[in-house]
Amino acid sequence: MPNASAKHLYASLLCAALLLMPRYPAHAAAKAKEAPKPQGAIVLSVFGSSDPAVQTSLTAFRTKVQAAFPQHIVELAYTATRARDAMRAKGQEAPSVAQALANLPEKKMHTAVVQSLHIMPGYEYHDTLQVAEALTGLPKGLTNVCVGAPLLSNAQSLDEVAKALLAGLPERENDEAVLFVGHGTDHIGGLAYPALQYALHQHDSRAFVITLESTKFVGGAVPGLDAGLKALRASKATKVTLVPLMTVAGVHVKDDIAGTEEESIRSQLQKEGYTVTLIHKGLLDMPAVQDIFISRIGQAVKKCEH
Ligand code: CO
Repeated sequence: MPNASAKHLYASLLCAALLLMPRYPAHAAAKAKEAPKPQGAIVLSVFGSSDPAVQTSLTAFRTKVQAAFPQHIVELAYTATRARDAMRAKGQEAPSVAQALANLPEKKMHTAVVQSLHIMPGYEYHDTLQVAEALTGLPKGLTNVCVGAPLLSNAQSLDEVAKALLAGLPERENDEAVLFVGHGTDHIGGLAYPALQYALHQHDSRAFVITLESTKFVGGAVPGLDAGLKALRASKATKVTLVPLMTVAGVHVKDDIAGTEEESIRSQLQKEGYTVTLIHKGLLDMPAVQDIFISRIGQAVKKCEH
């Protein structure tokens, strides 16, 4: 009797399904007890890279921010289109700042702090500001978005960062200089690089800042490797600690700074006779820099509460 057995089968399946159904109200109540409703969102705005080491640094920092702000949800968002494409090609999630912010109201979040993890207030930071403004006050959307400033961004930050950078370095010998290498830009925000050089010099006369794209500032306002080599010679140093002045150690660190090719900064320093100690890390790997960003987030969270 095929019909009867089919009926029996349906009945059994229905019973099993009912038994297996989660008991939603009880489950939700238990969950609500463990985790109170988040007070808002923190979106970490970073240039981005598909390099696994970069993702490790970013994830570690995200975890540290989450621990410092347990009442908030913390997300990463990426400002570089090319980096997002590369990340997605590897199957990684890669929201833009606009996408991360636009999704928050669906998660019942109506205020957000966006912390810029950029080094200085250049294009990526100003884009972040514009996106935050554009996504504030839309119907049923975000009511308040506060943007935390990048690393070198205000009157206090230069000295604060200079001290943190020097304190984060390994012990150096007397004849050992330190060379910080930033990305560089033609944005006026790029003047933060020589300003940092000035701030560093108040503490250490053998600390120098150059950028990879120094020629974008005509007239040498932002020093490049040639100016750096001149300063190193004048300092009488024979050894150099080479430090990327970049948030994370992506492709520029791997190739342009630390690479074994002739044109890399490391190779050129060695060609000039310097013994080079390379710090193959991004600034976001330094606890003192992490703490500066976390205090920026705290300021932005406070600002957003009012
Ligand atoms: Co670049």
